[in-house]
Amino acid sequence: MSPQTTHQHYRDVNSASSSPTSQRLRQLTKQHFVAELSQCLFDFVIQLLPTQEELAVKEDVRKLLERLIRTIEPDSRLLSFGSTANGFSLRNSDMDLCCLIDSEERLAASDLVTMLGDLLERETKFHVKPLPHARIPIVKLSLDPSPGLPLGIACDIGFENRLALENTRLLMCYAMIDPTRVRTMVLFLKVWSKRRKINSPYKGTLSSYGYVLLVIYFLVHVKNPPVLPNLQQMPPLRPIPKEETHMGGHNTWFFDDIDLLRQRWHSENSETVAELLIDFFRYFSRDFVYNGGVASIRAGLLKKESKGWQNEVSASRYDARERNRLCIEDPFETDYNVARCVTKDGLYTIRGEFMRASRVLATRPERAILALADLCDERKDEDLVTAPLFYAPSRQVPPQTPYSVGSRYMNQDPHYRVNKYLFARRRNIWLQNEVSGLVRHLLKHLPQTIHYMRVNWGWGWS
Ligand code: CTP
Ligand code: MG
Repeated sequence: MSPQTTHQHYRDVNSASSSPTSQRLRQLTKQHFVAELSQCLFDFVIQLLPTQEELAVKEDVRKLLERLIRTIEPDSRLLSFGSTANGFSLRNSDMDLCCLIDSEERLAASDLVTMLGDLLERETKFHVKPLPHARIPIVKLSLDPSPGLPLGIACDIGFENRLALENTRLLMCYAMIDPTRVRTMVLFLKVWSKRRKINSPYKGTLSSYGYVLLVIYFLVHVKNPPVLPNLQQMPPLRPIPKEETHMGGHNTWFFDDIDLLRQRWHSENSETVAELLIDFFRYFSRDFVYNGGVASIRAGLLKKESKGWQNEVSASRYDARERNRLCIEDPFETDYNVARCVTKDGLYTIRGEFMRASRVLATRPERAILALADLCDERKDEDLVTAPLFYAPSRQVPPQTPYSVGSRYMNQDPHYRVNKYLFARRRNIWLQNEVSGLVRHLLKHLPQTIHYMRVNWGWGWS
């Protein structure tokens, strides 16, 4: 082929690929993939829901434990919270139980944990591990597998954790507003995060509770039009005294009349669960401001500085236990970062997984089920991916995109082009600042850097 014919050939190929027919074809393939993926997601999560027998066994266990606890504290009630109570339970998930004592004179939680631990060890076949000195003292219990319970059972019992009961109710209300889309997305993400080994706060990644909050944040604050309303910002139908809306100094108000809400509020967002999931992965791999932002389901995107949660660019950055890499505000305990256990390597691994998921979905294999299988392919390596050493956390939130992900109205906005230009300019300035900040940081810490290279990599002179 002569150079001229080669050019002609490429021109033809390029013009053909952007012709209206090929665009239409691509659109159709995408629509087909998205529809099929939504169906696969429903079918997939339905098989993973707990069976009626499992729920019945769990309820029996709860009642048995309640009877035993009443031998120590007669005025007590044992209530389920977490996934068993909020509609986001998978087959064989752990049970979270909270003991409430309706009497003024009660023992401290740590003493109750020790006493209950002794009692359960004496009276039951559970393996018992009391943790009286944890931030929230709990007794951990487990039962070995048996014919009725092929995978055994695991549960945690805590005391007086009334905020957890309330946040469970809040999550349940969100699940009830749009069960098909919200529950499918959350259940899928729980399976995905477990299979990809990024669902373990003890190892530096994120709890299931954290992932659920990310989904709700995305559906309330990122999607435009929103898929869910902000229940915490909806006013009550009649004035309510402060004592009823506050618990231990925390505002726990939210609109919980979901039947009424479903009559009066309808989301204008009609995207399918697959479209939402694709956008979710894209947003958290590319757009969320990890360095400076806090995801709050109560108030949207907040700045770390406004909460005093910024990372210190100091000696502490070498501390593996550092907090606030990823910030998710608890809906009621607003000074509590739900993702405080996520380490630098943990966040690096989680973001890597969001990116991987985005890539898998972008390839749009011929059958959606293949994408699903690839997404949930078990990660063999239990370890976290090590983040690069020199990653200087920024103190600033970079300029925000002038529109939310997936906004249908984006291109119709007359200010869109101007905003896009301004956004690109601000982003360039922000990037320049980031790079010069990193160079300044490296120079300032040059002696530590050289020391680190010599010790760990054997670099330099001996
Ligand atoms: N919780 C909390 N603060 C956290 C973690 C958990 O208040 N940092 C409470 C929440 O009420 C949450 C419950 O503990 O609903 C259970 O948390 P978790 O086990 O992470 O979520 P589940 O939905 O129960 O998920 P799984 O089925 O994986 O156990
Ligand atoms: Mg749980």
